[in-house]
Amino acid sequence: MRFRVPRYCIPVSIVLLNATFAVYAQRPRVEDYSKHLAPRTGSPEHAVDKMLEMASLKPGETLYDLGCGDGRILIAAAQRYRVKAVGIEISNDLARTAAEKVKKAGLENAIKVVHGDFMQTDLSGANVVTLYLATTANDTLRPNLEHYLRPNTRVVSYDYPIPGWKPVETAESQGRHGATHMIYLYEVPDSIKK
Ligand SMILES: C[S@@+](CC[C@H](N)C(=O)[O-])C[C@H]1O[C@@H](n2cnc3c(N)ncnc32)[C@H](O)[C@@H]1O
Repeated sequence: MRFRVPRYCIPVSIVLLNATFAVYAQRPRVEDYSKHLAPRTGSPEHAVDKMLEMASLKPGETLYDLGCGDGRILIAAAQRYRVKAVGIEISNDLARTAAEKVKKAGLENAIKVVHGDFMQTDLSGANVVTLYLATTANDTLRPNLEHYLRPNTRVVSYDYPIPGWKPVETAESQGRHGATHMIYLYEVPDSIKK
């Protein structure tokens, strides 16, 4: 006896495969990356100053630093601009250092340090996002930014652009060894597709 595949099976399988892919494609990309997306170097002090100035923070807003390192951006933002700040840091020792510095500065009510992976983090609470990662990391992160961020959220990236996004402002900043580094300011448009 020969086994026959019913004729309708092929089109039904194609439709099911397409539907599965469509659902998957709408999700932020969270699986296909290596978790450590950037080195540990902290932003130089004058770059922190310029990034925060470009972000135009208003009191009561919330800043997220994705890969917050030792927490220097979080602390400067909370002290100078009276904003809330959330830092996500994947390295255990850096997350601990950041939390200790926050405590020492008496800013526990304003700053939350999360030991975790920013690719697995809901970013919808942010008014401002700061980044010092790498161009490939920004590219990996972009679908999550587009998925979570609300219109008019500002994203400030030190040294590396976000591929596919057009900055509304750029500035130059002197690096540690006299090299010039760019800072990119982006604003999430009204029309971004969710
Ligand atoms: C270049 S440092 C920037 C630190 C800080 N934002 C600053 O500007 O001083 C990048 C940080 O991102 C962290 N990092 C890398 N991949 C991460 C991930 N997937 N989730 C959370 N943190 C990550 C690294 O451990 C490192 O501390």
